[in-house]
Amino acid sequence: MIILGIESSCDETSAAVVRDGRLLSNVTATQLFHSKYGGVVPELASRAHQLRIIPVVEESLQIAGVDKEELSGIGAVYGPGLIGAILVGLSFGKSMAMGLSIPFVGVDHMEAHLFSNLIDDPKPSFPFVNLTVSGGHTQLVLVRGPFDYEMLGETKDDAAGEAFDKVAKMLGIGYPGGPLIDKHASKGDPSFVHFPRPYLGDDSLEFSFSGLKTSVLYHLRKIGYAPAEAGKRDEHERLLANLCASFQAAVVDVLVAKAIKAAEVSEVRHIAVAGGVSANSELRRRLKEAASHRGCEVFVPKFEFCTDNGAMVAMVAYAKLQQGMTSSLELTAEPGLSLEH
Ligand code: KG4
Ligand code: ZN
Repeated sequence: MIILGIESSCDETSAAVVRDGRLLSNVTATQLFHSKYGGVVPELASRAHQLRIIPVVEESLQIAGVDKEELSGIGAVYGPGLIGAILVGLSFGKSMAMGLSIPFVGVDHMEAHLFSNLIDDPKPSFPFVNLTVSGGHTQLVLVRGPFDYEMLGETKDDAAGEAFDKVAKMLGIGYPGGPLIDKHASKGDPSFVHFPRPYLGDDSLEFSFSGLKTSVLYHLRKIGYAPAEAGKRDEHERLLANLCASFQAAVVDVLVAKAIKAAEVSEVRHIAVAGGVSANSELRRRLKEAASHRGCEVFVPKFEFCTDNGAMVAMVAYAKLQQGMTSSLELTAEPGLSLEH
């Protein structure tokens, strides 16, 4: 069975080919130009997908050494995400499946993230707890098996990646903020400022990052934070590193505590992390450390599978087609799709 998977829900145009569950190619075109606007501009995202979808799909087939006539099925994301962006990949995938007279499968983007640790070895074994942390989502999900999920907790407001991006904006260091904060934080002191840890009660597996973001804002106002002045660059770099480390420590403390709690209450030993924030070096280090103290194992995908990618979409489509699960060509984009639909 040879499956093409297409992802276009936000700012990555990506396509991948999977043969009998083994990944043959994964090609991703990232829309870097959004950085000058300080965030993803939806209309520009869909226009860029429109330009890139054909070359990205062609390259993924070429790298896989597969002719489109050999495909057994096509999967594309139909939600959640930006409607104009989703529509490009979804319409393309449906049209291609129709033209080739092969089955089409609509894929839930959040379900695809749950599969990002199932692409390569080592893989977590079922059941496992998955922490999905991206620019749009923060979710703890109990994955009992393929298509059998229980939502354990979600964010009530900002996603973890969104908090990184907004705080980076306040600090004037650019977009996307996560990798930049991660880099500055590595040179800073995490105990420089004690920002609040939004635990929301001892047993809660829900998240909330907007209050933390506001307390960073108030702190910056209180100290009169301003961009580096000439002649004071070193001093400013030190302050920036300490602020980044202090903010990052607050986010990581909460993510680690809740992921461990989720594994404990679900009585599972494998914890998987997915989404752009899973690239965070401190999150990886601290989660692995905390998990090992409790006899748990942590799984983090390769970087190309942390951020949005076609490979995780192709894996879901393959698993669904194996079970004979297909979608109608009338399937439409669902920007607000939730995992428990
Ligand atoms: O999964 P993703 O590529 O896109 C979606 O949002 O679906 O995640 C992007 C998010 C951004 O908010 C970015 O700042 C964050 O992931 N991110 C990081 C790191 N690398 C990317 N956050 C913290 N530390 C990082 N190293
Ligand atoms: Zn995503």
